[in-house]
Amino acid sequence: MSAPYKTPTFLQRVISDEIGLILICQIDEIDEIAEAITSPYIQKVGIRLRSPRPNKQIGVSGDKDTISKITEKLNKNNNLSLTTLQLHSGTQLDDQLFKEGITYLLDTANMFEQQGFSISQLDFGGGFPEASNLSEDDLTDLFLLLYETLHDRGWQHVTCIFEPGRYIVGDAGLVLTQIIRVFKVEGIPWIMLDTGTHQCPKFSNSKFRFELIHRMSDPHTTPTSIAGCLPTDMDVFTKRYPFPSPVDKGEYLAILNAGAYTLTWSTRFSYPFPSILLVNGNRIQLLEVPQI
Ligand SMILES: Cc1ncc(COP(=O)(O)O)c(C=O)c1O
Repeated sequence: MSAPYKTPTFLQRVISDEIGLILICQIDEIDEIAEAITSPYIQKVGIRLRSPRPNKQIGVSGDKDTISKITEKLNKNNNLSLTTLQLHSGTQLDDQLFKEGITYLLDTANMFEQQGFSISQLDFGGGFPEASNLSEDDLTDLFLLLYETLHDRGWQHVTCIFEPGRYIVGDAGLVLTQIIRVFKVEGIPWIMLDTGTHQCPKFSNSKFRFELIHRMSDPHTTPTSIAGCLPTDMDVFTKRYPFPSPVDKGEYLAILNAGAYTLTWSTRFSYPFPSILLVNGNRIQLLEVPQI
């Protein structure tokens, strides 16, 4: 269990159900978890490290000072056992960021071991791009690098955990939309869709692709801007996207790579949601109909 905010009821439930591992994102949580354990029970815990990348705030820093504060608190609370370190460096990571994450996690794990802890699990978080943007060969190279680094640094017996989200579901979801307006602004063609960033949020950080479903092999040579249907100038998916031309109102457009952090992160503002369909080969099943 690794949520940055663990409600007291949720925490109680996790402890009473003896969930194997609780990840700590803030030092204060150490005492909170220890106090929530009422029966004689040793709870395994892990530390979520804050990525040293700019603008990261979730997790605890891996500096010496913080590690000694954590050590002091864990040594006081003998119903907690530190087994795991986690680093989720962010989403849409490239291989350089993934490599830097490996080094940081191992350096910090060594510092914890020097304080007398025995770290048996390293959790590398998620962060890979959509599967359509990361070839199997590149993924294999990353894992070979990880394997060699663990070996070289004496961590070959540690259990490694991975939490890919987007890599699994990113390219499994697409949004089927219709073009509701075609117009020009200062000579640039624009199209407006019957969906928007309320259903495909920019915060999803997805590498959306836009394709006219009946004309995917037409030349994509006309820079075209694509807007959603919300009443705000902010609802723009992309500008000057290479696209076929001309485009007609009423054509169907698929937004690809829309499986991660879209529907789950969408807002209710301000139109009904589309139906959700499960497509499995030739079988199409209706999962949810719009709530109006
Ligand atoms: C701790 C942790 N692990 C894994 C993930 C999944 O990330 P991604 O979908 O980029 O693989 C997240 C996403 O927020 C996360 O916070």
